[in-house]
Amino acid sequence: MSDTAAHAGSALPIPAHVPPELIVDFDVMLGPTTLDDPYAPAWEVFEQCPPVFYAPARQAGARWPGAWICTRYEDVREVFQNTDRYSSEAIFPFLTMIGETFRALPPQADPPEHDKYRILLNPWFSPKAVAQIDANIQAVVAELIDGFAGKGECDVAHDFGRIYPVRVFMRLMGFPEARFEDFLSWGYAMLHDMTDLEQMKWGAKSGLAYLRSFVAEMRETPGDNLTSRIVHGEVEGRPLTEDEIMGIVFFLWIGGLDTVAATSALMFRQLALDPELQQRLRDQPEAHADAVEEFLRMNPTVNSARMAKVDHELHGVQIRKGEMVQCLVATANYDPTEFEDARSFRLDRTSNRHLTFIAGPHRCLGSNLARRELRIALGEFLRRVPPFTMKPGADRTVVPGLVAMKRLPLVWDVEAGE
Ligand code: HEM
Repeated sequence: MSDTAAHAGSALPIPAHVPPELIVDFDVMLGPTTLDDPYAPAWEVFEQCPPVFYAPARQAGARWPGAWICTRYEDVREVFQNTDRYSSEAIFPFLTMIGETFRALPPQADPPEHDKYRILLNPWFSPKAVAQIDANIQAVVAELIDGFAGKGECDVAHDFGRIYPVRVFMRLMGFPEARFEDFLSWGYAMLHDMTDLEQMKWGAKSGLAYLRSFVAEMRETPGDNLTSRIVHGEVEGRPLTEDEIMGIVFFLWIGGLDTVAATSALMFRQLALDPELQQRLRDQPEAHADAVEEFLRMNPTVNSARMAKVDHELHGVQIRKGEMVQCLVATANYDPTEFEDARSFRLDRTSNRHLTFIAGPHRCLGSNLARRELRIALGEFLRRVPPFTMKPGADRTVVPGLVAMKRLPLVWDVEAGE
């Protein structure tokens, strides 16, 4: 018997061991939704689909021939933590598509190989190290907000969220400010429309060409910046290879920009639609750290995937070696078995073990930096801008993932702030 079977409505064959009742026609991007309830499609999946189900590829040439989708908190956590069963090596096919031979590091290295990269990188992203660039983040954020605070309106996604992580990142890496517009357009081309492959390739290739030249410059003339530290870094007592350096610098570039931009847009969305919460956070700056954690839980932007290393069972479902498993953090973070009153914003959660930065060895390296960026953005915005709401008539479409909102126009009464 053949090990595959055709499935009506799907473009590609489905492995024969997949029970028909577990096949769901599902778009992992979750699709656009509206501002009022961006994660409603995820809740529907949680409530209506089996905890682990199979989503066939929607078109020939798709990234994977189909994938298992897991939606429950405990299963998602298990997939991220159990590196004997699940590998990250295949999660980033894009670099091969543009003719590169290096891997994105550390994400595409499995433990134990992965460990050496984190041993090198962790100290530069510790809470203490990140605290040292607070003043830098503060300055970037304050300058941007002061540019529009007196106008009574801004597009907080386009004029703020899109920009400040790029500026913070460029300063951290040592890239010259003159390259700011380039970085904005390369990143935007690469990450903002996954259907436009030519644009994505252009963005990636242009960015990589610049990163290569800057790496070469730092090799010749070391500087006081993170790129230089990476270029001159060592793992297991030897210098990093050129491929390792490019893999690390490349992933730092793409890992820390749109994630912060999308999360901050989703955070300001929630504040604009909930005046009571906004006022509470104006009155209680000491609650901002907990608030950011809750914004992160309620607004995850990445649903990571892994490849099965061995045949095994997950939540009673047979998964075969080589099959992809996609983890829906968007549902896991709303799982009522882990989060009481999961759909409500709660500042008083005693435990908030959300999976927005995942769990296990690949847990986001930049989580301390991301948290600080979000906390400073929240604090400075509430301090400098009077109570704000959505601009009437604004487009209310949201994609509950990395793209989030390209636009989020806010308005406020300038005189209320004087
Ligand atoms: C709100 C903002 C952010 C979110 C939601 C986020 C999310 C994530 C997620 C989900 C992963 C795991 C990917 C996987 O293994 O499948 C990850 C890994 C990573 N992130 Fe972030 N990230 C954020 C900000 C940042 C920042 C600011 C940086 C650094 C500049 C960064 C650098 C990285 C790196 C290097 C990894 C790879 C870690 C490893 O594989 O060991 N991230 N991030």
